[in-house]
Amino acid sequence: MSRLVLVSNRVPPPRERSGAAGGLAVALREAVSSHETLWFGWSGTAGAQAATQPRIHRSGRITYATLDLAQGDYEGYYRGFSNGMLWPLLHYQVALAEFRREDLGAYQRVNHAFAAALVPLLRPNDLIWVHDYHLIPMGAALREAGVQARIGFFLHVPFPPAAVWAALPQGDEMARELACYDVLGTQTEEDARHMNEVLQAQGLPPKARSFPIGIDPESFAAAARQAEGGTEVRRLIQSLGGRALILGVDRLDYSKGLPQRFRGFARLLRRFPEHRNRVTFLQVAPVSRGDVAQYRSLRRELDELTGRINGEHAEFDWTPLRYLTQAVRRDVLAGFYRMASVGLVTPLRDGMNLVAKEYVAAQNPEAPGMLVLSRFAGAAEAMEGALVINPHDPDETAEALHAALSAPPEERRTRWRQMWTAVNRHTSADWARGFMAELEGTTARAA
Ligand code: ADP
Ligand code: F6P
Repeated sequence: MSRLVLVSNRVPPPRERSGAAGGLAVALREAVSSHETLWFGWSGTAGAQAATQPRIHRSGRITYATLDLAQGDYEGYYRGFSNGMLWPLLHYQVALAEFRREDLGAYQRVNHAFAAALVPLLRPNDLIWVHDYHLIPMGAALREAGVQARIGFFLHVPFPPAAVWAALPQGDEMARELACYDVLGTQTEEDARHMNEVLQAQGLPPKARSFPIGIDPESFAAAARQAEGGTEVRRLIQSLGGRALILGVDRLDYSKGLPQRFRGFARLLRRFPEHRNRVTFLQVAPVSRGDVAQYRSLRRELDELTGRINGEHAEFDWTPLRYLTQAVRRDVLAGFYRMASVGLVTPLRDGMNLVAKEYVAAQNPEAPGMLVLSRFAGAAEAMEGALVINPHDPDETAEALHAALSAPPEERRTRWRQMWTAVNRHTSADWARGFMAELEGTTARAA
């Protein structure tokens, strides 16, 4: 069996290596457990100088090789080009995108430095799987360095229509870099169609295909059952005083539609006053990319909105909106999902959105909650049973929340069964197996 070489900007830190972790790491657990693996990427540290030699750490069948970045490269490659330019563009937010040639230079430099550090660690029969928008030029850089092995690329975030992509200076060159991969994977069919349009406009073969990512529903359900009796869940239940819980869980990111969501909740309280003092909305939104300007201004906006909504609607014994910017442990989170009457997932644009799937998996099948889901999350492409909304309209959000809070038990159970089937149709194991089978099926270039 070929060795698997994973390349991603984030490599899971040691405490997460053995068990549950965030999106990418969880999804790859299955792939990693069935193959000898080399996992290569950024160490998470930026210092005075870029490292040229990766730090190697072995754990069972996985070898981790990570590189430190120079502070200037971190700023240009990660903060600047990846998260100040590509992230907003790929999420259709052209007005938020900030392009600087120095950032592009750093992005290319880091991709080439990563390729140069990886090449000596490679074997001819490896399956190389590159992840996400930070590393688009990686495949081309490896080919330039003479690597003949099979190389695939999976984009975890959306891919916008060609007219949006056209706003990217260097977009044509990046399309050619995408075409260097043997397999190109996206989350949804719509993303694959958009990527293929961009490729074809350059006269390149339209090889993008969708491989929808998922979770491990059974193990998440077990974690949620386990968490039910835990201290944090009991404290949360006690604090609610019998009120229903609406739950939102997201990184603090402008793609997640948090201001619109908060306004939708405020609209619920105004338009459907029967829910006043009967429901609490808990939004968990740990700070993410806090040194990028657009994220800082979002945080200020949410601080202000929270104050305004609570100021207007709170009563002396009830705070309608609880807003946390710390992360919650994954096992505790699973318990919170399970006791929430409504999961509120309303991104303006999202590759897949694993939170929606985790919420479904965590429910008690006898008394499940309802999912209110944005039509612009990849997860909405196949999530029969959810209440699907346009997150730009706070009235639509309010109406869906009202419908979810008022749904009779039989409707909840019927909808949940449909969603459970949907979540089991594309698990993380299916995703990893499907992509790797496709990559195995391509032939390595003759040396
Ligand atoms: P993204 O990749 O944009 O962050 P996803 O919803 O696809 O969005 O994946 C997020 C992952 O991170 C999920 O597995 C989720 O459980 C986890 N996560 C998100 N927010 C939190 C939080 N507040 N605390 C702990 N884990 C979180
Ligand atoms: O899903 C998109 C993504 O960029 C992942 O690649 C990453 O692990 C996650 O969001 C968190 O972002 P960051 O690595 O910038 O903290």
